[in-house]
Amino acid sequence: MQLNKYKNYFFNQLKTIYPETEISSFWSWLTEFYLNKTRIELALNPHQLTDEMKQNFDDALNRLKIQEPIQHILGETYFMDYPFSVSQEVLIPRPETEDLVRWIIEDYREVDGHILDIGTGSGCIAIALDLGMFNARVTALDVSEKALKIAAENAKRNRAKVNFIKQDILSTQALNQNYQVIVSNPPYVRELEKSQMQKNVLNYEPDLALFVTDDSPLLFYDKIGRLAFRHLEKNGSLYFEINQYLAKETLDLLRKIGFNDVELRKDLYGNDRMIKASL
Ligand SMILES: C[S@@+](CC[C@H](N)C(=O)[O-])C[C@H]1O[C@@H](n2cnc3c(N)ncnc32)[C@H](O)[C@@H]1O
Repeated sequence: MQLNKYKNYFFNQLKTIYPETEISSFWSWLTEFYLNKTRIELALNPHQLTDEMKQNFDDALNRLKIQEPIQHILGETYFMDYPFSVSQEVLIPRPETEDLVRWIIEDYREVDGHILDIGTGSGCIAIALDLGMFNARVTALDVSEKALKIAAENAKRNRAKVNFIKQDILSTQALNQNYQVIVSNPPYVRELEKSQMQKNVLNYEPDLALFVTDDSPLLFYDKIGRLAFRHLEKNGSLYFEINQYLAKETLDLLRKIGFNDVELRKDLYGNDRMIKASL
């Protein structure tokens, strides 16, 4: 079958479920992944779909119809241009989080020090920091053993050196040592925000990575903020990804804990998304 003919069929099958821009992006992911060709290459060189290839595209199409994330269908995604394996056990790394990592690299690239990533999930923050900094010694923790297994695979895949630890941060009384940088993208979505979320997130990404209760939405920020206040080096900083609807409350909390210098930045979509707090 001609690829272009299949493309029309693919778009038609999905058009009642997704906006056209999203279908286009699925199509690009699939052609690059299965045919190893960019859209421009395909336009210049019309392609035939073999029966075997068509089976791959059909399987992906059926899974997209039930709103499975494209990253789960392919089993991988990219974060800061590095490949990461993903599954239902970890949050799919988001582009917003790349900006947080870039901020840390900008500030600390040449510093010779220890870094801690709390709630590492796929390992995306820890691994990108190890690869992007000259002399960082990176430790990453998560309460989920299954997530840590994927994070370790991702470190190996990208030849990064990260020390992974299974630890529940909420029941941690003190950290083992001091750090130059502590970073976390903890769970921060309130139950009340569930109704605004897409099915592909709600049905396929882990609740443990996403949700906090409506009555204590800043639980992780409070705990991690207090630990960081005691365990940051003098010239160190704490970086958080935050809930865009709770920016003021998160800034106030960090000031109350004792951080003198707190800075808020927006993400690529213009939402309040990350904070740096220094002593
Ligand atoms: C929002 S995800 C972030 C994943 C990854 N760092 C990223 O930015 O894509 C939050 C992570 O925190 C972990 N987590 C949840 N509760 C935790 C706890 N009590 N202690 C340590 N990690 C926890 C989850 O397993 C999940 O991997």
